[in-house]
Amino acid sequence: MNLLILGRGKTGSLVAEVAAERKHHVRVVTSQENPARAALTPETLQAFDAVIDFTTPHAVLVHIEACVKAGKNMVVGTTGWYKDIDQIRALVEQHKTGFLYAPNFSIGVNLFLEVARAASAALRHDYSGQIFERHHAHKKDAPSGTAIAIQHAIREASGHKENVEIISFREGDVVGLHEVVLESPADRIYLCHDAKSRRGFAEGAVRAAEWLAGKKGFHDFRDVWREL
Ligand SMILES: NC(=O)c1ccc[n+]([C@@H]2O[C@H](COP(=O)([O-])OP(=O)(O)OC[C@H]3O[C@@H](n4cnc5c(N)ncnc54)[C@H](OP(=O)(O)O)[C@@H]3O)[C@@H](O)[C@H]2O)c1
Repeated sequence: MNLLILGRGKTGSLVAEVAAERKHHVRVVTSQENPARAALTPETLQAFDAVIDFTTPHAVLVHIEACVKAGKNMVVGTTGWYKDIDQIRALVEQHKTGFLYAPNFSIGVNLFLEVARAASAALRHDYSGQIFERHHAHKKDAPSGTAIAIQHAIREASGHKENVEIISFREGDVVGLHEVVLESPADRIYLCHDAKSRRGFAEGAVRAAEWLAGKKGFHDFRDVWREL
């Protein structure tokens, strides 16, 4: 595939590396090359099969708008934009493009979501829950998109109206640590996912772009990762 990767940051660089290893043609666009989304005109986008975005919560919405309106399929790893999700879903449906997003593209975290869903039955007994998330000091959004996804999964699966609390820590160079703690008067359950590197995110995002080829519609990676 001809892939356009937006963002040459910590994750975008690795996505480009993995895509090249998987024999895709890759072009990476940095923030300097893309002022006011200059790199995302219908003409410049024409050459690409799909666009993968790992930029910033501030930049991502204009990128999505430009790519979807140009009819390009898009994989979005950038977090921090989900309050606009309904509007983006409508835009994707209107322009009949393919769109796949995830707060976390690692297979391990998506498995962890299933574990958290199963464990949420505890909330129907005598347990209370908390989510702890730790990331590097430069992360721009808090709580993390992954922590919010865990929170939603627990709420959905437990049938509880209230969300469990998320506590965020920003320190050092932590790639991404998520813990769910379920506590009763009698015992405590600890669930933990600890990302050792960004490799899992990058592999998931590239394989997501491969899955999306020739497809349309608005997709959440949690419904797709089993098919990869
Ligand atoms: N879904 C997942 O699996 C997953 C995994 C890891 C991270 N993330 C998310 O992905 C995003 C990026 O994370 P990161 O750790 O890679 O951050 P990062 O190292 O800060 O990289 C972000 C990059 O985006 C660039 N950028 C900003 N605006 C741009 C634009 N308009 N066009 C092109 N490039 C632009 C920045 O360039 P400048 O520095 O020059 O501004 C920077 O190089 C965050 O939202 C993070 O939460 C998601």
